[in-house]
Formats: sequence, structure tokens, C-alpha cells
Amino acid sequence: MISRRSFLTGAAGAAGLVVVSGSLAACGKKSTGASGAGASGGAQKTITLGFSQVGSESGWRAANTTSVKDAATAAGINLKFSDAEQKQENQIQAIRDYISQKVDIISFSPVVSSGWDTVLKEAKTAKIPVVLTDRQVDSDQSLWVSLVGSDFELEGERAANMLDKVLKATPVTPVNIAVLEGTTGSAPATQRAAGFKKIMDASHPDWKIVVSQTGDFTRDGGKQVMAAFLQSHPEANVLFAHNDDMALGAIQSIQAAGKKPGTDIKIVSIDGVHDGFVAMTQGQINGIVECNPLLGPQLMETVKAVLAGQTVEKWIKTKEGDFIAADAAAALPTRKY
Ligand code: AHR
Repeated sequence: MISRRSFLTGAAGAAGLVVVSGSLAACGKKSTGASGAGASGGAQKTITLGFSQVGSESGWRAANTTSVKDAATAAGINLKFSDAEQKQENQIQAIRDYISQKVDIISFSPVVSSGWDTVLKEAKTAKIPVVLTDRQVDSDQSLWVSLVGSDFELEGERAANMLDKVLKATPVTPVNIAVLEGTTGSAPATQRAAGFKKIMDASHPDWKIVVSQTGDFTRDGGKQVMAAFLQSHPEANVLFAHNDDMALGAIQSIQAAGKKPGTDIKIVSIDGVHDGFVAMTQGQINGIVECNPLLGPQLMETVKAVLAGQTVEKWIKTKEGDFIAADAAAALPTRKY
């Protein structure tokens, strides 16, 4: 896994780029990843983008899919879309299909971080640039042009800081944390866990993770795994869920066990989907770290810049906020997903 530091300095340093979060800073130079399709003057060729989505595991993913499809339409890009149903082999097959169809550019949100070298080399040999979206891969950075997505390690750090804020307002002693992890081997699961632990180790030696297991980013996974946690670790009084959907599933199991979510068990999660905000207004989730799924417009802008031969940032991020339950009612009407 590439560290945040090496990702930024390595990518930006090699290309001589300025990294600016939240916007695309195309510098007008030739991109090493550009195929040249649609790059030259004369009649504009319609860009064909092959996109492989992770699946439909969460509310975040549904919003992300809508964003990608709507942005492609708005940008006049011909989108070929496939849903990998959370299986890496399906994504590899989809990418190979896009290569044989000779699409202009490929984008995908990798279900897991490792195992992409071969197919990415095939795309490079076919001179089809690849833009990652949402999640990172641990392959050589020369095999993909840019990543449009969030800083998951920072999200983990923000979640720990959010929990600190919640516990300062409503303390529990001792602090016994249960963790619902995302899909095993995925960048958000690995990096959110690392970011959370970093803050815990540095500032909260009194916090203890008593149990941690994957719920695969799904509501049903969160429900099932939390039911098991309540049996095996009744001492857990805090839940850190790597996404809202798992927190929402866990709330059902906590209520079924006769406990009050948000009170008997403090809950902090990541994403900021509509149902998560509703649960916050009801005091069932204490705090949410936003992870913005509305990546479509930035992705299409990046696709066009790459194919126009411009240099783009190696990592393009979006603006994200942190919300505690007290903010939820005011924020809810303005939420876009
Ligand atoms: O990669 C982003 C994560 O994937 C979101 O946090 C989660 O809800 C989704 O399934």
C-alpha cells in the first residue's frame, strides 16, 4: 500500500505538479498516460469511457453510480458501465472487455487494492489510459494516470477525532470499541483502520478495540456481525463502523438486544448518506465523517483532460465535512445523497 506521503510526493514530484485538493489542476503539458484519442484539433470525436463499478453494496455506492452516469451524460461522454458485484474477477474481465472494445479510456473503482498489475499492464500495452476512481491500488503508479477519490486514512483519523468529541460530551468508562470493518483488502477498510489506530495510539491510550470484524460495507453485514459482537463482547460501549450502511444494520441488532444505539453504544461512522443523517437526527448515530461519492463531474473533467494530452494531478480529492448529531437536523435538507 502506498503511504499518503509517498503517494503525493512521488506522483507530484515526478511530474513536477502542484497538488491542489478539490479541483483539477491541468497544467497544459502532455500527459504520459494520454492515448491521444480526441486530443487533436478538427472535429471532436465522442469519448468512450469504460467504467467498472465495485457493486451496489451501499447507499454511498448508489450515489456514486448515479453521479458517474449523470456526469457522463452531461459531459457528452459515451459511458460503458458494468457492475462487478464486489468481485475482483468480474472487474478484471470488464477491463479486458473494454480493452478489446478499444475504448478511449478506462476507469474503475477497485474492489480490493492488490492484484491489478497484469490487467493494468495490458491496458498500458493497448495505450488505453486508466483513471482510478474512489479507491487506490497498490500497483506501480506508472500503470494509471490519476486517482479521483478520498483520503481514507485521513477519514479514519477524522473518525477517531470525532469519537473523542462525542466522548468529551458524553463520557463512558472504560472505552471499549467494537469495529465493523469494510471489505477485507479494500483501500477504505485498510486505510480507515490505520488512520483510526494512528490517532488512538498517539492520543488515547485508554481506548481499547475489543473486537473488529468485516461487515463487507453492507447493511446486512453490519446487522449480522453486530448481533454476534453483542453476544461475544457485551462490554462494547462504542461502535466505529467503516460506513453508514453497516452502522444502520448494527442499530437494528442493538435495538433487538434491548440496548439504545447512540446512548448505550456510541456510534461513529463514515459516508454521510441520507439514512445515516436521519439516524443522527434520531440520536442513534453520534457522528459521521463525510466521504463524498459525487465524483462523477471531477472524473469526466479528468477524462477529458487526459485525452486532450494535458497533465493532471495524480490524486484529485473532494471537499468533505464532519457532522455530529447536533448538526444533523440543520444539514439534512441540504444533503445531496
Ligand atoms: O470506497 C468507498 C466506500 O465504499 C464507502 O465508504 C462505502 O460505503 C462503499 O461501499
